[in-house]
Amino acid sequence: MIEQETASIGFGSGYGKLLKQRGLNRLQEAPDATIHREIAAITARVLRTCGAVLTGDTEDQLEATKPFDMYSMISSCLYRLSIAAMPSQSRDLVDRGHDEIQTMKDALASILRHDVLNLPDHKVILSPNGSSANRLSLEIARELTKRSKVLVSHLGHVSIKQACRTLGMQIIELEYDVLDDKSLTKATTTALDQNKDIAALVLTTPDSRLGVIESVDDAVLQRCRELGIRVHVDAAYGGLWFSASSKGNPTMRHLLESPYADSITADPHKFVGVPNCGALFLRQPSDLQVLGDAEVPYFEAADESAFGTTQKPDGALTALFHLHELGKEGVRKRADDCFAKAKELEAMLAANGFSTITPVQSGIVPIRLNSSEQVDHVQKELERHGFQVSAIKIQPANLAPQFGVRVVITPRPYFTTEILQSFVEVLRQVKIDT
Ligand SMILES: Cc1ncc(COP(=O)(O)O)c(C=O)c1O
Repeated sequence: MIEQETASIGFGSGYGKLLKQRGLNRLQEAPDATIHREIAAITARVLRTCGAVLTGDTEDQLEATKPFDMYSMISSCLYRLSIAAMPSQSRDLVDRGHDEIQTMKDALASILRHDVLNLPDHKVILSPNGSSANRLSLEIARELTKRSKVLVSHLGHVSIKQACRTLGMQIIELEYDVLDDKSLTKATTTALDQNKDIAALVLTTPDSRLGVIESVDDAVLQRCRELGIRVHVDAAYGGLWFSASSKGNPTMRHLLESPYADSITADPHKFVGVPNCGALFLRQPSDLQVLGDAEVPYFEAADESAFGTTQKPDGALTALFHLHELGKEGVRKRADDCFAKAKELEAMLAANGFSTITPVQSGIVPIRLNSSEQVDHVQKELERHGFQVSAIKIQPANLAPQFGVRVVITPRPYFTTEILQSFVEVLRQVKIDT
């Protein structure tokens, strides 16, 4: 089916120039595979030079002009698409006629279900990203319950808030102490006592700012079930991560496998590093029927991946190829390596007088700072020294604020011990007490 690795697209600015130079405006207008081979070679070079960006039109003109990106959750992925073997790649829309693509999307859903998340009886719906998977889960919750309130913690992802706005749903924010195991259970119980009309409880595993794996006692989940409240697990970042890692995470595994998690977002887009690919897992495949009008006839051939749009399949197919290429062991190794590196960074920080806001549990390393001003200063100075980090400024109404900067270890090749050491050294130099 895939005869040759001919193309790799997606690493930004360089392609635009290259295509323009050849009088081509868009990638799909390329007359043959030659240009894609060239692009693939350049992309490989970009990756090899670890952090370089393409500033010229040829390989020789590559220059490392960007700081190391220490904050993005999305890792690099050299992805290969065979234009020759897959003519529909060059089309904007995909419909029922593209059996091969539908089959491949089903294959991806199957790998995610069986080999990665190990939830063999779930239905998997592929989506363009984690945000749309989250939105879909809330839409299903709204339609099934005919209610409008959503319980989500102050660490919930912004896509939950955005989805609620779009869907006319209302957020009830649960504030809790991330260092107290029982705190979220208490906050949820209070919210259940005080509110009616609750459609869903969202638990984030882990959240994208601190890396906290949210959970509540089973008794609370049981209560939700009795009250007809859906439980959605937003594992956009952590789902693949923890399922792949040999370290796993018992709290998260318990939640995913419990009878209470009605839906789960897990996102190849993040940890595996494939742009444009999210996935929603449904415990009860029949739940989808509540959106009866969403599956349209031209997709009926593809049960697992069908969902109401004619979007291009690049993300899903890239994820499939990439997972094939890495294999189960490869994905596991990536997860284990990232976790080991994150722990290494945590230890280096401790040895240099820094602490993390919460203990490291994934690739997320939330480095504690004292104030908003200090965050701004450190972030700016780190960037000046070649490191981009994101700011952590969590200021709940009724809890102490938390400040810091966040590093997310991904499988990018430049996350070496040496780079981490020089990062900590720079951090030591630029930190001021404010
Ligand atoms: C916990 C969590 N949920 C949802 C999302 C949204 O995913 P996407 O960027 O693929 O839309 C993210 C993204 O970082 C996330 O970390």
